[in-house]
Amino acid sequence: MINYLDRIKNKKVVITGGLGFVGHNLAKTLLEKYNCDVTIVDDCSNSNISIINDIVDRITFHKIDVLDTLRLFPLLEKTEFIFHLACKQISSSGKEPINHLRVNSESTLRILEYIRNNNLTNLKRFVYTSSASVYGSTTRLPLNEQDPTFVLSNYAATKLLGENYTIMYNRNYDIPTSCVRYSNIYGYGQSPNNPYCGVLGKFVHNALTNKKLNIFGDGEQTRDYTFIDDAIDATILAAIHPRALGDLFNVGTSVETSVNNLVDIISSNIKNLEIEYIQERDIDNIRRRAIDIQKIHQALTWSPKFNIKQGIKKTLDWYKKHLRSSTYL
Ligand SMILES: NC(=O)c1ccc[n+]([C@@H]2O[C@H](COP(=O)([O-])OP(=O)(O)OC[C@H]3O[C@@H](n4cnc5c(N)ncnc54)[C@H](O)[C@@H]3O)[C@@H](O)[C@H]2O)c1
Repeated sequence: MINYLDRIKNKKVVITGGLGFVGHNLAKTLLEKYNCDVTIVDDCSNSNISIINDIVDRITFHKIDVLDTLRLFPLLEKTEFIFHLACKQISSSGKEPINHLRVNSESTLRILEYIRNNNLTNLKRFVYTSSASVYGSTTRLPLNEQDPTFVLSNYAATKLLGENYTIMYNRNYDIPTSCVRYSNIYGYGQSPNNPYCGVLGKFVHNALTNKKLNIFGDGEQTRDYTFIDDAIDATILAAIHPRALGDLFNVGTSVETSVNNLVDIISSNIKNLEIEYIQERDIDNIRRRAIDIQKIHQALTWSPKFNIKQGIKKTLDWYKKHLRSSTYL
């Protein structure tokens, strides 16, 4: 069987948002596992360069806003793969709708237009990272790529627009693009200081530092949690696999896990957790979510390697080792 992942070896890649949670893990994997020539573009608006202390000498980093096209475009000229991850997060989407539109969608259109109008002969794939939040709220689960979208936030609206541009530029202009729709990624290197850190990142950190775990609402709300290593593999496959060209794939596990389940799993690893139930927040308060992953399994032969118990265990082990590092406190 062909190992498509290996085909990314030694390639020249640009990662926008490459200091973020997913971006820096993708950069490390592409550098250390696949020996890629990695360039990171990030404006540090929701991240810190210290997150890549261990690889900064072996990659190229540019502190650039993705909307600063005069500085961004020259970096794309010779690249083979563009992973466009830079984004504004869901938590701020009610407060900064225009900023969300500009970073999550307009930057995507600008890069695609640049590719269309310039003969980027080296470019093999532009990958856009979208979100399962585009599905909105429904009780009929798991959701597949054919299901209607139903956006409930500025964030989801801008991610849907970004993915539409990405797919349309392949259909109409033959630009080599693909899209992934991630569902709640968790794992190494989510800083709990980051206000947008996911629930699992916060729980793991609080559990290890004897702090309370706050559960919003009754804790029965579910999500489909994807371990970072699995999300990275799926993203690289979306970049390298011929059958991903011009297409869009859910990336998740199809398994619903409630917040209460997460706490149970963490407490089977760490005793005497302090838990408090507090009032539900008015962001991302969708009751249930799980996404169908048959399409990516059939087309790209990807399926998650880690279930939620294994992923949480790996995450806890990693944080135990790195907790003293100022980067994660
Ligand atoms: N983490 C998840 O669970 C999840 C779920 C669904 C989709 N996604 C998508 O995956 C991608 C990565 O998510 P993440 O969790 O790593 O987010 P993140 O917030 O950790 O990383 C985003 C990065 O983009 C940078 N950035 C923001 N605005 C910028 C700008 N104008 N110019 C340059 N850089 C800018 C931030 O500084 C940050 O480092 C995003 O596109 C997001 O929409 C993530």
